[in-house]
Amino acid sequence: MYKKLNLYVVCLAFVMMTACTATNLKNNAKTPCPVNSKKTGDVMQAKENCHKPVIIAHRGASGYLPEHTLEAVVMAYAMGADYIEQDVSMTKDGKIVVMHDIYLNSDTNVSKLYPKRCDKNGKYHISDFTLKEIKKLTVHERTDKNGKAVFSDRFPENDKLPLRVPTLIEEIILIQGLNKSTGNCRGLYVELKKPWVYPDHGKKFAKKVLSILNKYGYNNRSSKCYIQCFDPYALKYIKNKLHNQLKLIQLIGKNSWNETPGIDYNKMLTKNGIKKIAKYADGIGPDIDQLFTNYGKSSTLKPNNVTKWAHENGLLVHPYTLRKDSLPENLTYDSVCNALFKKAKVDGMFTDFTDLGVEYVNKNFN
Ligand code: G3P
Ligand code: CA
Repeated sequence: MYKKLNLYVVCLAFVMMTACTATNLKNNAKTPCPVNSKKTGDVMQAKENCHKPVIIAHRGASGYLPEHTLEAVVMAYAMGADYIEQDVSMTKDGKIVVMHDIYLNSDTNVSKLYPKRCDKNGKYHISDFTLKEIKKLTVHERTDKNGKAVFSDRFPENDKLPLRVPTLIEEIILIQGLNKSTGNCRGLYVELKKPWVYPDHGKKFAKKVLSILNKYGYNNRSSKCYIQCFDPYALKYIKNKLHNQLKLIQLIGKNSWNETPGIDYNKMLTKNGIKKIAKYADGIGPDIDQLFTNYGKSSTLKPNNVTKWAHENGLLVHPYTLRKDSLPENLTYDSVCNALFKKAKVDGMFTDFTDLGVEYVNKNFN
C-alpha cells in the first residue's frame, strides 16, 4: 500500500511539474470537457485537410515509461497528447485490460508468479488469467524473447516498481479525471487486439469494450474516441451489427506479420482497397513506410498515392509509429514529421514520444 501510494505521489508530482513548466496543461479548469466534443475538429479533417494534425500517444508515453501503465498515461497526458492509445484484450473472467500483446510474457513477471500456467510454447495467454491474477503481476519495460530490453535507452527493465496492468475502465477514469482537473479535452484511441483469437471471433469482446465506452459516455460521432483494429471483420461487425457510432480506423499491417488470418493488407493499400475500407471505416492506420515509395532508402521521402486515395474517399490517415530511437538511417524525428505532415499530409500520427510530436505540431501548425 505504502509503495503504491509513493508511486502515485511521484506521478502527481510529475504532472504538477509539467503543468508548471510547459504550456500543455492549460489550467483552464473551469472549461467543461465533454466526452463528446468537436473541440479539435479532427472529425472532418480528411475532407478539409486544413486542421492541426493530432498526436496519438502510442501505448501512453511509452518512450519514457513502461507501455500502457497508468504512469505512462499520465505522462502522455501531461505532454499534451490529443489522444492516448489503449490496446485491449479480454481476461478469462471477461474483464478488459490494457496491454499490447495477447500474451503476458514480454512485459510482466508472469513466469515468476505463475510458472506453470503457460502453453506448450511457453506463452502465457491473457485469456487464461482472471483480472485478479493479472493484477498481481508487475509490469516492466518491454523485453525480447531473450529477456533483453527491446529499447536499451528507455526506462530500466526491472520489477522494482509496483507498476500494474490497468483495466480499460481505470484508464478512462484517469483520462476523464485529468480532463476535468486540467480543463483539457484528451481522447481515447482503443485497439481491439486480435479479436479472432476468441472462440466467437471476438463478438463478446467487442460488445464488452463498447458497453464500457458507452457507459462512460463515448457513444457518438463526436465522441473523443476512436476504435481501431487490424481485423476488418471485427470493424464491420461493430459498425453493421452493433450499430456503433464511434469513429472506426482500419489498421493496415504487413502480410508477413500474419496479423489477421486470411487478410491481404497489400490489397487494402490499392485504390480499390481503400475505396472498400471507406464503406465501413472513417480512417486508416497504416505503417509509416506504407505511405512512401522510398522509406528506409532515402533521406528525401516521396509519398505514394495511399494518403491521396484515402482523402479522396473521405478517410483520415493516422500512421504508426514514430520512434526517435528506431529511425531509418539519414532520417530524424522531425524529417519524418515533415514528410508525413507537409508532403503526404496525414491527419495525425502515433508516436512513442508524445512530447516531440506535440512540439513539432505546435511549431508547424496553428
Ligand atoms: O494501433 C496503431 C499501432 O499501435 C499498431 O501497431 O502493434 O503497436 O498495436 P501496434
Ligand atoms: Ca496499437
